[in-house]
Amino acid sequence: MFDFAPADASDEAALYADLRAAALAVTEGETDAIANMANVAALVWHYLPDLNWAGFYRLVADELVLGPFQGKAACIRIPLGKGVCGTAAQTRKTQCVADVHTFPGHIACDAASASEIVVPLMQQGRLLGVLDLDSPIPARFDAEDVAGLEALCAALAPSLAG
Ligand code: SME
Repeated sequence: MFDFAPADASDEAALYADLRAAALAVTEGETDAIANMANVAALVWHYLPDLNWAGFYRLVADELVLGPFQGKAACIRIPLGKGVCGTAAQTRKTQCVADVHTFPGHIACDAASASEIVVPLMQQGRLLGVLDLDSPIPARFDAEDVAGLEALCAALAPSLAG
């Protein structure tokens, strides 16, 4: 049984350090990328407050395909360059969007989403997919979330490359 829980949710850097340690612990020794994505999505969902969606899209044959997630059922395929996820994948740059309604081409999977952050998942120069978090709160994500999630993706990439 895994029973991870954040020690201190009020300190964001500590929260991300806890999340990263828990994610490394649950993925250690497991080579199945989908299983690891599923556990990491669950940890992100339980550690980070004010989310309505958290999960992965995997790069499959030059498009993003829905991977393990928590939240409402979501759109399955996203072309590179489309929406927040496709933009993060194409540019290989984290997209931190304070108001999704102003993002050109934003793909609304859950009408409750107000802000979103999408981090490209890179392993040795290869794009594996993206980690996508949505929140019902406008401007939910800031520079600490960017740093915390980019560090999480960098630490986990070897376990998420299938
Ligand atoms: N909003 C995303 C689509 C994925 S869902 O949020 C789960 C986008 O614009 O790419």
